[in-house]
Amino acid sequence: MPDVTDQIIERTPLVAGNWKMFKLRGEARAFAHALAAGLDQVDEVDLAICPPLTCLADVAAILAPLGVGVLAQTAHQAASGAFTGEVSMSMLVDAGATGVLLGHSERRALYGESDGALAEKVPAALAAGLEPILCVGESEAERDAGVTEERLAEQVRHGLAGVASSLASDVVIAYEPVWAIGTGRTATPAIAQAAHAHIRAVLEELFGAAADEMRILYGGSVKPANAAELFAGPDVDGALVGGASLAVGDLLAIAAGALAR
Ligand code: 13P
Repeated sequence: MPDVTDQIIERTPLVAGNWKMFKLRGEARAFAHALAAGLDQVDEVDLAICPPLTCLADVAAILAPLGVGVLAQTAHQAASGAFTGEVSMSMLVDAGATGVLLGHSERRALYGESDGALAEKVPAALAAGLEPILCVGESEAERDAGVTEERLAEQVRHGLAGVASSLASDVVIAYEPVWAIGTGRTATPAIAQAAHAHIRAVLEELFGAAADEMRILYGGSVKPANAAELFAGPDVDGALVGGASLAVGDLLAIAAGALAR
């Protein structure tokens, strides 16, 4: 029998671009074709794009057949209903999505996406066959008050409360310190690795050995110039990129940083 204690789990790095509220459909299609043309430069890295809903189907039609993830930026937990402005997980599948970003700090802060709702959204995404990326992260005030670990543990435990261990490896976590998003202030590699190791310890409490298969991405001012040093952390399994994901060359350069791991 193989000695499982010596087994090294290889997690394929994932670099996901969150476009937020940027790009019209024509721009999105042009980006998708350019990315398709550059994929062979980074074939050992998984890539994903989170476009606005209006161009999700266009991007999915071009990139999903090539194995690139196409994720919505949020979704509702209910299957259907009187929820004006919302879309369900099955509607996303119908539009060609392969996954969904959940709990982004902008959704939490500006649109009241709560830990309670996320506890329903993550299992709803999995049930629909979507890969969820659950975002967690502390604010600057929480870091200054010394409650970062507590806050991250709370967000992870709530968000994953309804997830069975057998499905845990289908969930991706993104650690995005709120103070590093769109500010140009990246967490140092040491800060990122410490937070990721803490998150993995919480995942181990919840899911046991499956925690080793779960990918934890770093997000917050990731750029081509800082990607490789961030990816050097053993628990940093990729990145969730905002601003720099709007240019295909930058996204590919960040993914190339993951190849050096
Ligand atoms: P920036 O890379 O622009 O800081 O955004 C990070 C982010 O919020 C990705 O979801």
